Amino acid sequence: MRVLGIESSCDETGIAIYDDKEGLLADSLFSQVKTHQAYGGVVPELASRDHVRHIVSLLDEALREASLKVTDLDAIAYTAGPGLVGALLTGATFAKSLAFSLGVPALAIHHLEAHVLVSMLNATLLKFPFIALLVSGGHTQLILAHGLGQYELLGDTLDDAVGEAFDKCAKLMGFPYPGGAELAKCADEFNALHKSLLHFPRPMTDRPGLDFSFSGLKTHVLTTWQASKQDHEARGLIAASFQDAVVDTLLIKCQRAIKQTGIHNLVVAGGVGANRALRARLGALLEEMNGAVFFPKPEYCTDNGAMVAFTGYLHLLAGEKDESLGIDVRPRWPLSVVE
Ligand code: KG4
Ligand code: ZN
Repeated sequence: MRVLGIESSCDETGIAIYDDKEGLLADSLFSQVKTHQAYGGVVPELASRDHVRHIVSLLDEALREASLKVTDLDAIAYTAGPGLVGALLTGATFAKSLAFSLGVPALAIHHLEAHVLVSMLNATLLKFPFIALLVSGGHTQLILAHGLGQYELLGDTLDDAVGEAFDKCAKLMGFPYPGGAELAKCADEFNALHKSLLHFPRPMTDRPGLDFSFSGLKTHVLTTWQASKQDHEARGLIAASFQDAVVDTLLIKCQRAIKQTGIHNLVVAGGVGANRALRARLGALLEEMNGAVFFPKPEYCTDNGAMVAFTGYLHLLAGEKDESLGIDVRPRWPLSVVE
């Protein structure tokens, strides 16, 4: 059984093919970072147009890589939400038209579910139930994954997402867009010098609960930066102190979620999951707690078609399909109502 996965929810067009016996056969990606760089953020209309421009050639590339014809595909999975409406519509229209023309099922996939489940692609030891820490540019959530399509929201951000806080702090300190990964790299370089850090707030850790808030920490970074010499040394010190506060905050909440649920398997998902400090510290925490932590490969932390193809395969296996002829995307779609 071969499932094509199409991701187009934001600024990456991803097309991949998952085979139930051989695993991932192809994985093509086009990132629009350069298109949006000049504007310092994603421009939705430009994103939609760029998906249109690349989707057909990416499909051709994926089929070539897998040595398959389009008629060899058994199902077409696509990201139906959440995301930018125009960008989602591009992928959904393409996917449903393709599925209809081939006479195969289409599968409407939740973008965040795909982020959460992609770790199962390589980690055969990972089974439900598990806790997922979803840390991306748009979301910061702790989720209890009971089973396929059964997700309980344990905690959410009240304002900025972690990735967004990384990107905004990066921008205010002059890192090029999108900045989060650059800021993290700068922080790691500063940490390698073993100098002491500034103590930044660990938001909402002094009260019970699993919610997050990062906008106050971002303001703290802004005022510290403005009061500093704004040179290379200050950039490194503030980046490292910010990263340390974020990682500490995420660790405290993960530890709380594990104690609260008694579930010791933790999956990290989303772009910030590529953060090296977070990976190292969570690895040590779970070892200490006799648990296990699962990270996607760095290339599957950010948006990709592989996570959609694999999640589509799991839903197809569960007997689901999207048989309507309409194109129905859901720009705002809570993960707790996947089914
Ligand atoms: O999951 P993703 O591709 O996008 C959404 O679906 O939102 O995540 C992108 C986010 C960006 O905010 C980016 O700055 C952040 O992930 N990011 C990182 C790192 N690499 C990417 N944040 C911290 N450390 C990194 N190494
Ligand atoms: Zn994403």
